[in-house]
Parts: sequence; structure tokens; C-alpha cells
Amino acid sequence: MELAGNTILITGGASGIGFALAERFSKSGSNVIICGRREEQLRKAQQKLPQAHIRVCDVSLESERTALHRWVTEEHPQINILVNNAGIQQRFDIINAKEDWSYFQKEIQINLEAPIHLSMLFLPQISGKDNAAIINISSGLAFTPGVFAPIYSATKAGLHSFTMSLRHRAAAQRVSVIEVAPPAVNSDLGGAGLHTFGVPLDEFADAVFLGLATGDSEIGYGTSQKALRMTRDEIDEAFRRMNNR
Ligand SMILES: NC(=O)c1ccc[n+]([C@@H]2O[C@H](COP(=O)([O-])OP(=O)(O)OC[C@H]3O[C@@H](n4cnc5c(N)ncnc54)[C@H](OP(=O)(O)O)[C@@H]3O)[C@@H](O)[C@H]2O)c1
Repeated sequence: MELAGNTILITGGASGIGFALAERFSKSGSNVIICGRREEQLRKAQQKLPQAHIRVCDVSLESERTALHRWVTEEHPQINILVNNAGIQQRFDIINAKEDWSYFQKEIQINLEAPIHLSMLFLPQISGKDNAAIINISSGLAFTPGVFAPIYSATKAGLHSFTMSLRHRAAAQRVSVIEVAPPAVNSDLGGAGLHTFGVPLDEFADAVFLGLATGDSEIGYGTSQKALRMTRDEIDEAFRRMNNR
């Protein structure tokens, strides 16, 4: 895909992988809009990236997703790329789950419902535009579930599936649908310090950018690059290894 000359909405673009992509798109000559729940975090991101547009939005809520779509339509009608990046990871033991359903439902709303709904909202608007694309950020855990994060893994498997269906249909509208499946990356996902073992953020984001420039429709890195093409037997083996059984 062409990395310059786009208008790109990146959900969860004020930190981690979303911000790393925002920086790169902006440096490549694209107009970037980032959204997230924390206004202060958005302002900090804008200090580092003064050309970026910011918008407070909680993508877990249908009303905020439609309001975001309305605002982007009015303020940035030239939008041609949506990046569904916002995500949370909740670790818990499925047989000792104590919280109310609303706690667990949040992860499904943010990680799966929001990218599906936002894709459906923005698809008609970006269809037919030059270099139109929807980029969904899934996870290596879409392919080999982490028992420590069972709902998270299920949402990412769901997003992988949805992305395949969307890619197939959106091709007729000349919209590229790209899946980025990160391995563990050193960000604050799930809370500070949980992903320090992951690959460095910049190294990962540079690899994603190379994949985007090359025109790949599925982009992994390291272990997740392998996971994207594993056979069922390889998935079972990797699952056993990761989950120690
Ligand atoms: N890091 C990894 O190891 C890894 C591996 C595989 C996949 N991923 C995926 O990569 C994506 C980015 O994660 P990250 O690693 O960069 O983590 P991160 O640094 O925690 O970033 C997540 C971003 O999503 C935003 N967000 C969360 N809930 C939101 C909501 N309801 N509405 C709007 N924005 C929301 C957060 O901002 P606010 O809190 O201000 O809303 C934050 O900017 C996620 O989809 C994640 O699942 C990450």
C-alpha cells in the first residue's frame, strides 16, 4: 500500500503499537487521527506528533462509535484508511472468575465488537477512494490461545475470522483488508510491565511498515509470523508448549 497521502483513523493511537504506527504514517506524509479514552494521553501523544488530530472516544460503546464516525465524516471526509488497533487484555483463571459479566463483556466489546462495527460504519465511506484500507490488529494468540487470557484470545480469533470475510467482500469495493498479528510486543498492554519480555516496539512497528509497503495482507513478526501459517498439529504443539501441558 501507499504510505503517503492518506487520512488514517487509528483507534487506541495514543500509546503502544497504535502510536508507533501513527508516528510512521505521519512521517511518511499521511494525515493521522488518533482516538482513545484518556484525553491526557491523547494530548501527550499530540505533543510528540503535533500534526495529529485527536478525539476522545470509548470504542466499547456503540453511541461513541457512531459519534466518532459522524465526527470523522464531518471533519475529515477524505479518510481512506481505518486502523482497528484499540485493545485490552484481561488475564484471569476461567474456573475462578469472580468479577461481574460487565467486566468480561468489556473485553469483547473493545477487541471484537468495536472493530466489526467500525469496519461496517467506515467501509461505505472509504470504498472507491484511492488506497482505501482497513487494518485490523489481531494477535498471535488468535491462532494459539493463551489460557491465561481466554476471552482475549477468543476475541482475536474472532477478529481474524471477521477480517477474512471482510477482505473477501471488500475486494469488490477496492478496499484492502489487512490483518496485523503482533507477537508479544513490549507495550503496556494488560498493565505496565506485563509485556517487557516482548519484542521492542520500534522493531515491530518497522516490520509492520515494511509489510504494508510490500502489500502483504497478513502481517506477523517472529512467532506470530509462523503462527499465521501453522498446521493444526503445529498449533496443538505450540498451544501445549505455551500453556505448559
Ligand atoms: N503488546 C502486545 O504484546 C500485543 C500482542 C498482540 C496483539 N496486540 C494488540 O495490539 C493492539 C495495541 O495494543 P498495545 O500493545 O499497543 O497496548 P497499549 O499500549 O495498552 O495500547 C492500547 C491502546 O488502546 C486504547 N484503548 C483501550 N481501550 C479502549 C477503548 N475502549 N476505546 C478507545 N481506545 C481504547 C488505549 O487507550 P486508552 O486507555 O486511553 O483508551 C491504548 O492507547 C491491541 O489490539 C492489542 O490487543 C498487542
